[in-house]
Amino acid sequence: MLARFFAIKSGNFGKWQSRVREIDSLESSFASLSDRDLRKESLAIRYRANSGEALDHLLPEAFALVREAGRRFVSMRHYDVQILGGIALHEGCIAEMQTGEGKTLTATLPLYLASLTGAGAHLATSNDYLAGRDAELMKPLFEGLGLSVGVVQSHTPRPQRQTAYRADVTYSTAKELGFDFLRDRLLLRRVKEGQALVLDALANDDESPSESQPVQRQLNYIIVDEADSILIDEARTPLIVSSLPGGSETAMEVLYSFSAAVAERFEETTHFEFKHKPRSVTLNEDGRKLLRSLSFPDELNTFGMIDIYEQVERAILVAREYQKDRHYVVRNDEIVIVDEFTGRLAEGRKWRAGIHQAIEAREGVPVSVDTGDAAKVTIQDFFLRYNRLAGMTGTAATSALELYKIYNTSVAVIPTHKPPNRSRLPDQVFGNSEAKWDAIVRQIAKLHVEGRPVLVGTRSIDKSEYLSEKLNEANVAHLVLNARHTADENGIIAKAGEENRVTVATNMAGRGTDIQPSPKVLNQGGLHVICTEMHESARIDRQLIGRCGRQGDPGSFQIFLSLEDDILKEGYGVERYEALKKKGVGTQGRFDHLARLFRGAQQKIEKNYFKSRKQMLYVDKQRRKIQVQMGQDPFLESLG
Ligand SMILES: Nc1ncnc2c1ncn2[C@@H]1O[C@H](COP(=O)(O)OP(=O)(O)OP(=O)(O)O)[C@@H](O)[C@H]1O
Ligand SMILES: [Mg+2]
Repeated sequence: MLARFFAIKSGNFGKWQSRVREIDSLESSFASLSDRDLRKESLAIRYRANSGEALDHLLPEAFALVREAGRRFVSMRHYDVQILGGIALHEGCIAEMQTGEGKTLTATLPLYLASLTGAGAHLATSNDYLAGRDAELMKPLFEGLGLSVGVVQSHTPRPQRQTAYRADVTYSTAKELGFDFLRDRLLLRRVKEGQALVLDALANDDESPSESQPVQRQLNYIIVDEADSILIDEARTPLIVSSLPGGSETAMEVLYSFSAAVAERFEETTHFEFKHKPRSVTLNEDGRKLLRSLSFPDELNTFGMIDIYEQVERAILVAREYQKDRHYVVRNDEIVIVDEFTGRLAEGRKWRAGIHQAIEAREGVPVSVDTGDAAKVTIQDFFLRYNRLAGMTGTAATSALELYKIYNTSVAVIPTHKPPNRSRLPDQVFGNSEAKWDAIVRQIAKLHVEGRPVLVGTRSIDKSEYLSEKLNEANVAHLVLNARHTADENGIIAKAGEENRVTVATNMAGRGTDIQPSPKVLNQGGLHVICTEMHESARIDRQLIGRCGRQGDPGSFQIFLSLEDDILKEGYGVERYEALKKKGVGTQGRFDHLARLFRGAQQKIEKNYFKSRKQMLYVDKQRRKIQVQMGQDPFLESLG
């Protein structure tokens, strides 16, 4: 009961409003400054923050300064409600601001303030595209105030990551931030255990000593954009990295095969030392030098030198000690171990610690997943490691209690700048999916003729392509955005608000995507969004719908459903689903009176997910407790 009271914040609004007025009153004094003096002013505030003046106390001036920088460098002046949102974020709330209200701009206020102490501020969003877009958009604002901005995306090479994390403000995704945290931990452990590391030797050579240092600095302040998605939906699966820090699976494969290919260039005693017990290879200084002089494939940029040394050592060991048709055989692209004692094949067994993979690479068969040591962190644990955590999203209020219980954050509901102007056409329910898709195509064609741009959301790649075919048959020109067609994401989004434009998309055009309707389109009623199905969570539906009617613009949407939709099966189970489905077979008739049934199914699914998240958290907490009692690092474990 009490928790529910704390979960939604409204008590502080009075105080916050008076701060907004204070910031308003500072505006004119900054507006008259030259660009140079504005930056000087910013440095002065930073100096005060570093001398120990409380951020709370600096907030009005800092926010007024950022507002001026917004107006000047990115042509957007923070609205009062955005200032309010900024205060909520500074106070560690989850700010609920409707879709399209300008959360990207809002975040600059508390990010600036938090970065003043020099410990850095992070913004985590849900995908690479948004991280890059937001950093790009807001960079002039921060740079105008003398701050640096960094971006970490999944393809960012390791050295650039280090630089990006050293910037005052770093934009990234929850995933990359979490993975870097884990990779750093694995690295530090290996440094501690003295494995394959000669720090001093590295320092005075032609390579930077930073290779053996973590990429992240401290975890100071973070704003999680799309907070409900990241802190709740994605929190269902923990982040795991296997023992070799570095990039994606393909980068790992490249590392394995590169190492296998160069292994034979190294000679015993000249370049490495071999030990019998336990069998191991260690590169010496000349060996390391030789390795560094080789040219590396680009994919290896994501790895530190230590990782590469280790892998080459493994490859040398394998070349020296493991013989084909004696220790193992190659069968159907697989390495099968020969049991030393029985001489028989030891089906399904694998060598540990990357040896198996090194052999696979050497034999040119597909490299299997490493099951060695790993580091693992839940989303919950990771974000709670920051000194201060805040979040923002268009859809938080319905999850307020869960957010409060897990993250101890309150939701602050921020009013919109202008009254919403989005209209809903009545839901339509069809007997079967064929009838539904036909109706959708008819509706798209109709709006298309009128010139309105239409965004159609589908639940999967298959369905987006199915609809695309049907639109082709009906001669409706359109663009498709899904995981198979990502090449021109920016371009497709940029066009999606133009007259006559039809865009068929998966969830990729959901959260965060900013479609800007042309002035002419706004006169005709703005963007129209069609939902072709309901999602597992109402929040996802609301996010799709939120692509239209942004910033108080006109817009409309409609939901199409059928008795064959997956959501009924997921919510009510097969039996009831089959019974419902039967009613609609082969009919063109409508079942609009059953629309409520779909929301019911959705609520059931939401509840189930909530339960399983609670369960996962509980299990994880117990596990950690035990590990801490045993004096182990709770984030490192053996998955083997
Ligand atoms: N103060 C402002 N002045 C002018 N335009 C603004 C202002 N704030 C935001 N905008 C514009 O509003 C649009 C929506 O902004 P943004 O994408 O940041 O919204 P959002 O709240 O993050 O939405 P979503 O929930 O969909 O992610 C953008 O085109 C942005 O340029
Ligand atoms: Mg956004």
